Amino acid sequence: MPFNNRSFIKGIYHPPGDKSISHRILILAGQTVGKSEVSNLLEGEDVINTLKAMKLLGAQIIRKNNKYYIFGVPPGGLFQPNKVIDFGNSGTGIRLFSGLISSNNIKVKLVGDRSLSKRPMRRVTEHLSRIGAQIELKDNLFAPIKLKGTGNAVPLSYEIQIPSAQIKSAIMLSALNTNGIVRIKEFKSTRDHTENMLKSMGYNIKVRENAKKRFIEMKNNKELKTINYNVPGDPSSAAFFISAACLKPGSKLIVRNMLFNKTRIGFLKTLLRMGGNIKIINKRKIHNELIADLKIYQKSNLNPIVMKSDDVPLQVDEIPILSIVASFANGLTIFKGLKELTVKESNRLLLIHENLKKIGVRSKIKKYDLYVYGNLELKKGAAVIKHNDDHRILMSFFISNIICKKNNIIRDKSCVKTSYPSFFKHISKFSY
Ligand code: S3P
Repeated sequence: MPFNNRSFIKGIYHPPGDKSISHRILILAGQTVGKSEVSNLLEGEDVINTLKAMKLLGAQIIRKNNKYYIFGVPPGGLFQPNKVIDFGNSGTGIRLFSGLISSNNIKVKLVGDRSLSKRPMRRVTEHLSRIGAQIELKDNLFAPIKLKGTGNAVPLSYEIQIPSAQIKSAIMLSALNTNGIVRIKEFKSTRDHTENMLKSMGYNIKVRENAKKRFIEMKNNKELKTINYNVPGDPSSAAFFISAACLKPGSKLIVRNMLFNKTRIGFLKTLLRMGGNIKIINKRKIHNELIADLKIYQKSNLNPIVMKSDDVPLQVDEIPILSIVASFANGLTIFKGLKELTVKESNRLLLIHENLKKIGVRSKIKKYDLYVYGNLELKKGAAVIKHNDDHRILMSFFISNIICKKNNIIRDKSCVKTSYPSFFKHISKFSY
């Protein structure tokens, strides 16, 4: 079935495994002695690069009957790899491994693709050099990262100034092989999967939150236990289908087994505020993560909203698809404080603005705020989308076909493989 403005979203949909959790389970199970079992791992390129990295560092990982079996090495026991480690497009991969490796007595070179080699790395490496790791960046800013870890990391207290789960998780992974107490103060809006997984693995970690901040304390006097983990569905991937269903009254979508962690479902709250008819059912907790099923039975069109900058980290990866939703809501939507979007896989803020214009939607950027002037008319479409190989920009503007008179033109769709290899298969399965 072609996907266009006559399409509806229908069916029972299981989103692919969560990307953030897939990275973390490979890394943390890879730091346990014994056998861990992982099912529904996201088999996207970013995660496969993490899997290969973990193997180069000494873990044994076997895929059998759709499951992964992981036999790790203990904290501090990473092997000296015999080649550079390539993280492809993945900011999460390169930053989390910088942290992990920084407290191991090995020497590595971490590289990435063109996009990753332009993304800021100092935000992580500055913290890590304080524990005693020796780090060299290209132009003092970017990957390749040449890293000589220390077997004797200094336990420190950190206060993180940017709301970023990648920065926090890098520090947390360095703490796995740091004697003493490591303390972190950060924004409570960042995703907390590393914390939740460490708790499930019996690690000595304490987490406390107030209205804005989260306080983490880690002490490495307990070993990590092996774990059997079924990776829940990725809300960031499901967001494309949920948003499309909300955009098209008459759609009926059931989503099963989706991660429902409060730091990841900001976009659901946004869609609800806009008038999305989303019911949440079967909430349950597994391994300290909330999981739920959803029913989206959309009957009416959507309304505009103003999003506060404090809410951005809760939906940082979903702003591109929400900008499409906003363009078909009746009035002006403002997304405030999108600075972090400028340092993602592409400058997403700019690409959203440029592509909205191309498909016939008025928008403007004021400082780091994005204004989208929405209305209920079909957009002209027929635009050549500029995606710069950014998977989420590509998928968002593919979904925009549902609100365009003529379908847009997207050349080279291969970058969806980084986070959602089955995206187009799912489009044909769930659109009618
Ligand atoms: C991620 C954290 C976010 C997010 C990325 C995945 C993670 O980045 O954008 O897609 O798994 O920790 P920041 O923490 O840098 O905002």
